[in-house]
Amino acid sequence: MKPLEIAKDIYSVGVKDWNVRNFHGYLTQKGSTYNAYLIIDEKITLIDTVKAPFCEEFLERISQVVDLSKIEYVVSNHVEMDHSGSMPEVMKRLPNATVLTTAAAEKEHKLHYDTTNWKIQTVKTGDSVSIGKRTLTFLTTPMVHWPDNMLTYCPEDKILFSNDAFGQHLASSENFDDELSLDLILAEAKKYYANIVMPYSSQVVTALKAASALDIKMIAPAHGLIWRTNLPAILECYTKWSNQEKEKKAVIVFDSMWHSTEKIAYAIRNAFEQKDYSFKFYDLKSNHVSDVITDCLDAEYICVGSPTLNKNIMPSVAAMMTYIQGLICKGKKGVLFGSYGWAPLNMKVMQRYFDESGIETVASYNVNFVPTEEKLKEITSDLASKL
Ligand code: FEO
Repeated sequence: MKPLEIAKDIYSVGVKDWNVRNFHGYLTQKGSTYNAYLIIDEKITLIDTVKAPFCEEFLERISQVVDLSKIEYVVSNHVEMDHSGSMPEVMKRLPNATVLTTAAAEKEHKLHYDTTNWKIQTVKTGDSVSIGKRTLTFLTTPMVHWPDNMLTYCPEDKILFSNDAFGQHLASSENFDDELSLDLILAEAKKYYANIVMPYSSQVVTALKAASALDIKMIAPAHGLIWRTNLPAILECYTKWSNQEKEKKAVIVFDSMWHSTEKIAYAIRNAFEQKDYSFKFYDLKSNHVSDVITDCLDAEYICVGSPTLNKNIMPSVAAMMTYIQGLICKGKKGVLFGSYGWAPLNMKVMQRYFDESGIETVASYNVNFVPTEEKLKEITSDLASKL
């Protein structure tokens, strides 16, 4: 792969991970990229690195543009290993480079790697470093995604190097947001936000406010396509997602043993249909939790169903609720449903997950063994009356 010049003397030199399918449980069906950028100026600067297994490919790409020994700065926007995994080797092969990073990242680097021989200069919000014709300005954005994160802004080129923010797990031969379907890119950006960024939405609101003072013509994230045309679209989405704006929408998700819980799921769907809600219907036997959570991002209702299984609930539902517990922030309404034979413990278990996730239970339906048609109509009618 050749380095890609994204602006005069600024190159994209990262790598594409076409076949990664599991990003700590997040199903990355379209792979990912670990983007890094090289600025050729009086002080040649590398912004971020890549996941360790791709280090040689990465260094080879940089070498197509410049001798590694000429690089004077390595900006480390984030320590998570998809961006810093190559740092130990990079710092060996770039003998004249100083790392520019936050104080929090300096500590985290030391907890990941032997940094004894690294030259590190810490920066904070508002600090600027001149690299020649250009200045790099830093904006710390703690918890978007780790405590160490920062954004790097180049005012002369009006480029924001945003690291995880505005990213998508999407590998493609295309590199810019106007080279692929915008719907596809935004769908992947939404999935990325829901699965990674959602718990830190209040910090995203703060970061967006600070970034709004900048004149930005390009956002160069560390994952996926570079935003050069559709900036208003992605900024509008981030505003909506970070403010936890909800649509008139329900997510119905369940697993079932002998179809009783499934029948109740359909009865619940009918209630939302009657009240003109849009809805998504997920049987966990054939759906992945990272797709379910993507739809939860802007849903008003999350409806979860499981039968009792061995004094507990279906493992697939427990795994999903654990995932939701870590990601959902606030303000969702919930419906619980399921079936049982002799121990109605499913509701107790699921209620605990809802309580710990801050989801308000507005209705619950638990049926002994198999629901009759009459019972299903009753559930539909009762739930519809509560919507
Ligand atoms: Fe792409 Fe938080 O790492």
